[in-house]
Amino acid sequence: MAFNDFNMDSHWLPFTPNRDFKRQPRVFTAADGMMFTTHDGKQVIDGISSLWCVGAGHNRKPINEAIKKQLDTLDYATAFQASNDQAFLAAEKIAAMAPGDLNKVLFCNSGSEAADTSLKVALAYHRARGEGHRNVFIGRERGYHGVGFGGMSVGGIPGNRKVFGSAFLPRVDHMRFTHDPVNNAYIHNQEPVFGEDLLLELEQRILPLHDPSNVAAIIVEPVAGSAGWYLPPKGYLKRLREICDKHGILLIFDEVITGFGRMGTNFAADYYGVVPDMLNFAKCVTNGVIPLGGVICRDKLYDAMMKTDTPQHVVEFFHGYTYSGHPVACAAAIATLDIYQKEGLFQRAGEMGKVLGDAFHSTFKGLPNVIGIRSLGLAAAVELAPIAGSPGKRAYEIFLDCFQKGALVRPAGDVLVIAPPYIVEKQHIDKLVNTLADAVKAHA
Ligand SMILES: Cc1ncc(COP(=O)(O)O)c(C=O)c1O
Repeated sequence: MAFNDFNMDSHWLPFTPNRDFKRQPRVFTAADGMMFTTHDGKQVIDGISSLWCVGAGHNRKPINEAIKKQLDTLDYATAFQASNDQAFLAAEKIAAMAPGDLNKVLFCNSGSEAADTSLKVALAYHRARGEGHRNVFIGRERGYHGVGFGGMSVGGIPGNRKVFGSAFLPRVDHMRFTHDPVNNAYIHNQEPVFGEDLLLELEQRILPLHDPSNVAAIIVEPVAGSAGWYLPPKGYLKRLREICDKHGILLIFDEVITGFGRMGTNFAADYYGVVPDMLNFAKCVTNGVIPLGGVICRDKLYDAMMKTDTPQHVVEFFHGYTYSGHPVACAAAIATLDIYQKEGLFQRAGEMGKVLGDAFHSTFKGLPNVIGIRSLGLAAAVELAPIAGSPGKRAYEIFLDCFQKGALVRPAGDVLVIAPPYIVEKQHIDKLVNTLADAVKAHA
């Protein structure tokens, strides 16, 4: 199919430079395993699990079959005042995978909705316990929690915030970004050790400023994914948990990227041995085939909200989406999680992550403009010096170049990330890394 075979006037592409896209469209028409086919017949390796979603690789028959079966059985049913069997089964499976007493799953359809849902749970929980004054949220610089007004407010990626600040939540603060580009530029499958204690700022400035008794929740990505795979300092998440416990503040892990295998474990919470009060998920839960997200809550959140004086017929939590727990999405999730388990794909992600990390560090170190390399789990990032006056341009052009040569990689500012499906083989890693390295050299 040639690109002038379809009309590109109507589709406004998300998070994409639309004008430039139309000059050189990149349109997928089929996918299988690790590979895409494009509109002009090119084969492209999916080096980013299609935005971190496709853990088991494309076109997995058991998932497709589960969806078809579900469509023929129960296509959709109202999510309010009734439910469907698949939602209960999927919730049970997801809760069983989550650590500690993260046992109650609130479904939604995306990571953005998960972020807003978790913030609303925090407010409602504190109010149910008679602490309605707890309404300050704390996020972190360079954090990404989607594009809803709640998620944007606690998020910290400047480009995503710039235009919308007038509509942010009013009581939000941000902790410092966790990267040290001087001492921790190169990190290979280990936790960076910081000379200074980054959380002193939270304890000594942010919490006293708002008074800890007013703080509802702190939300962080365990590993900052969208910003460019930035790893937390050693002990950071454990200490954050302790600070939250000390002050009765809820801790939310946004595991939309780190959840369901990317770290080689079920969740980053398992990897770091820290149980949050809420865990947001979305990507990888259905292998990308149907939107599904959710928030896994500790029992105490649910219990507090059920302990209410209101009559039995009154809704306890005024929140939900028409498609919360959609039966087809839940059937896809059940089939996806089965595949991950049967094929040991999370363990494989951890093993192949070492191969990817080794390839990154041995290939990119010393190449022109490379100022950092980070690898952990099945994801690795190479950070480049920006072109003076044109931040992001170098990485964008490298991304375009790689695409032309058959490798889909992800530009994030001047960072390039590779985070392939867990089924990735060494030959794919070699092709992805070599193509990226050639492009880095070509754009020196
Ligand atoms: C950590 C995190 N939270 C939330 C989101 C938003 O998810 P969605 O695009 O499904 O709304 C993303 C998306 O990349 C993410 O990485």
